[in-house]
Amino acid sequence: MNHGGAPSGWLEFSANLNPLGVPAPVRAAIARTTYDRYADLDGRAAEAHLAADAGVPSECVLLTAGATEAIRLVISALGPLTDGLVIVGPAYGEYARVATEREHRFVELSAIGPTFAPPAEAARAAILGRDALLMVCDPNNPTGQTLGPGGVEALVRGAGGHTVIDQSFAPFARWQPEASDLLAAGSVVLIRSLTKRNAIPGVRVGYVIAGPETIRTLRAGQDPWSVSAHGVAAAAATSWTLSSGERDTIVAWRERLAAAVAGCGLVALSSEANFLLVHAGGRAASLVRALAARSIAVRGCASFGLPEHIRLAVRPPAEQDALCAALAEVG
Ligand SMILES: Cc1ncc(COP(=O)(O)O)c(C=O)c1O
Repeated sequence: MNHGGAPSGWLEFSANLNPLGVPAPVRAAIARTTYDRYADLDGRAAEAHLAADAGVPSECVLLTAGATEAIRLVISALGPLTDGLVIVGPAYGEYARVATEREHRFVELSAIGPTFAPPAEAARAAILGRDALLMVCDPNNPTGQTLGPGGVEALVRGAGGHTVIDQSFAPFARWQPEASDLLAAGSVVLIRSLTKRNAIPGVRVGYVIAGPETIRTLRAGQDPWSVSAHGVAAAAATSWTLSSGERDTIVAWRERLAAAVAGCGLVALSSEANFLLVHAGGRAASLVRALAARSIAVRGCASFGLPEHIRLAVRPPAEQDALCAALAEVG
């Protein structure tokens, strides 16, 4: 798996991390971590903390080594119980990769440009009366689109099978469904990366929220000690939601980036995430290369089936200005 990451010293607009950096309590917890005893790997207190933070019982949370392990566990464990997977696209490639590896049947229902509005009705229709596993990312990577206020609840209510919502970018959106409401509405599995929220890709931690029976099934499939001591410590120091001040700053930076990009003649899709999908037409690939030649990493979206788009992470204003100067240069 090559998920890249910009070389050191580059401007990093390709990885979708919290542009405010690692929260101080998380940084301090990681710095204090001890890792010379197996007891340091005991995730129970961290799970209880995340459960209280989400307003669900402790037995509804499973700590994982990033959302990546969560995706793998969920598709591996629940996929065989169903008639197959329905993936709402364009989607993060791991869903299809794991489904293919596990030989689960899947179909992809894709949002259509230029708006990329999530095909919620089609998704509901595809799973109605079927024992399917529906995979939705909300807000979606790479489009930044969401099902809207109340949209996740509507999708989940009365759906058959399991609905998996990858919420890895939800802290950056202006609204979020309550985990407890979703659990009450149907068979829901929430996947939450702490990588993006806390800007800690090297720590590898995330979690799943689901009903107790599903959590037991997933736990049974998990490797022992898969979450490091640093991951456990970071999780125990995290709150899922950003403060309103933090969110307002990121929203303001997102709007600033969209305006800057428009000033360079490119069209950014509206987004509720910490990144923007930008239509660059036939020059998308050459733009990625030209910026790379200037030590600026942006994400080409051909692997999402969107060869005319690039994805830009929301970064602080000074970095945005450097990106814009480079964009003006490359034309
Ligand atoms: C939608 C989505 N889910 C999950 C992940 C993986 O997150 P983690 O680093 O926590 O494994 C990514 C990483 O880019 C992602 O885009």
